[in-house]
Amino acid sequence: MTQTTLPWWKTAVIYQIFPRSFNDTNGDGIGDFPGILEKLDYLQELGVDTIWLSPFYDSPLADMGYDVRDYYKIHPDYGTMADFDALLEGLHARGMKLLLDAPVNHTSDEHPWFVESRSSKDSAYRDYYFWRDAKEDGQSPTDWKAHFGGHSWKWDETTGQYYLNLFQPKQPDLNWDNPAVRKGIQDFLTFWLDKGVDGFRMDMINLISKDQRFPEGEPLADSRFTDGSIHYRHGERVNEYIRELNQNVLSPYGAVTVGEAEAVTPEEAVELTHPDRKELQMVFPFDHVEVDDGKQEGDWQQLDVAKLKQTFVKWHDGLPAEDGWPAWFWNSHDQARIVSRYGDDQTYRAKSAMMLAACIAFMRGTLFLFQGEEIGMINAPFDALDDYPDPMTHSKYREKKLEQGWSDEKFLHVARIKARDHGRLPMQWNRREHAGFTTGTPWMRMHPDWPAINLEADLANEQSVFRFYQKLLALRKEQSAIFTGDFHLLWPDHPDLFAYTRANEEQTLLILCNYSDEAVPLPREGLPFALEEAELLLTNKENSDRLREVMEPFEISVYNRSKSLHLS
Ligand code: GLC
Ligand code: CA
Repeated sequence: MTQTTLPWWKTAVIYQIFPRSFNDTNGDGIGDFPGILEKLDYLQELGVDTIWLSPFYDSPLADMGYDVRDYYKIHPDYGTMADFDALLEGLHARGMKLLLDAPVNHTSDEHPWFVESRSSKDSAYRDYYFWRDAKEDGQSPTDWKAHFGGHSWKWDETTGQYYLNLFQPKQPDLNWDNPAVRKGIQDFLTFWLDKGVDGFRMDMINLISKDQRFPEGEPLADSRFTDGSIHYRHGERVNEYIRELNQNVLSPYGAVTVGEAEAVTPEEAVELTHPDRKELQMVFPFDHVEVDDGKQEGDWQQLDVAKLKQTFVKWHDGLPAEDGWPAWFWNSHDQARIVSRYGDDQTYRAKSAMMLAACIAFMRGTLFLFQGEEIGMINAPFDALDDYPDPMTHSKYREKKLEQGWSDEKFLHVARIKARDHGRLPMQWNRREHAGFTTGTPWMRMHPDWPAINLEADLANEQSVFRFYQKLLALRKEQSAIFTGDFHLLWPDHPDLFAYTRANEEQTLLILCNYSDEAVPLPREGLPFALEEAELLLTNKENSDRLREVMEPFEISVYNRSKSLHLS
């Protein structure tokens, strides 16, 4: 099989834009649609084919737009519908595609459906959400912990009942068991498909089928709350509802979807993305970005490279190419910057950024990048809670401090490494004030190192992270083994080297990555071919070491051995 027989989305490079932090053109300190339009040539030059836009819909921004007030309107911060149309046209004119974010597990509490729903028990919209009486003791129906901390049920005075909110009270969960809700969601997607968008990233899509008996969850360590996820994650009707969306809306438009599915397993991913099932095209694995999660929820621990490798083995084995498709990523608006977590954001910033980039780019799946990744952006050294604008950081702070007795120091130490805010830092374009992101006051504090880390600097340097990404993305498309090859891990227990092969009938690729900040001897045993007899496809190596005895700190080297050479 060659790439030309693969559907476009399998070989595409998809670049996520968090509009608020991308590029501001009117000086209000907030990124906007004209700002994105202005950068399309740049994205093309980088090698991106498709853009996924985080939410820009009308919203009170209690969760940065993942709390939608009106699915048909654009938040004025980002521009007008005409600006949106111009952006879409600009993309299509360049042969690029656009995926929108579809936050449909919940709405804002200011969405007219919820405003109606909460107004009276007899409202025609009552059943759009989950309303329940208090238990006999006056307590909420369950003690499920919300994702932002605190209760998943919120008492509402108007009608004297609780409503379900798995995230925060301003994000009530929609009741997908109600056909009118499903119709409402279909209408929303249809509206944007009629405008010509190419697909969606489906937010928290495996939470849409809840057990309406609402049983109590499982006990949680260090918490008075319970974990209710067995009653709402990948629920009984989740596949049925997604298939219905697919049949009624997605397939007729040829739309492509990538699912954000919380704690998804490879087995569930097969159910969600198997081509015969006609549900979603891809899902994001998460195991590989959670290896540095601490033992206690919300805590952090040093990366264990052997464990990291096992997460990829698990997905390659559990989700074979014929059974579905993963969407690989390191960074997003929900992740602190990977270079600061799995790489080295000081001495080896650029080098470790390149290593991480290539280490994931050779995995079978569609590659997703996030703005700023291509210039090796890193976490910000913020040490005050006020520098972190994400409401989740603040609710975690209250929870950790009040309920679990963490000190401010401990909380800020973890936030410095893991807070989502680092993913939301404004893009660093150049050396001008505020990194050229805005001429006004940026909506959140900039990374103070922007004079050193910015695109302008990278463009001027042939050895930069940007230049490396450019090479990598161009090269990726030509390696058929990435899309159709087997995966084999070398030296599974090695604590620093992450080495694997991808092989099909045309080629064998050998990917050698060093996750250590020290030089590491390169084992000879287990290599699929003599390195001297293969082509060095890509490397970030600084010194030539003809004997190849060691790997440099954070080195990546990719070798290719073509089978056709031997066959002909
Ligand atoms: C998704 C979004 C995240 C948001 C959550 C709740 O996980 O990516 O940013 O907080 O949904 O809407
Ligand atoms: Ca603006």
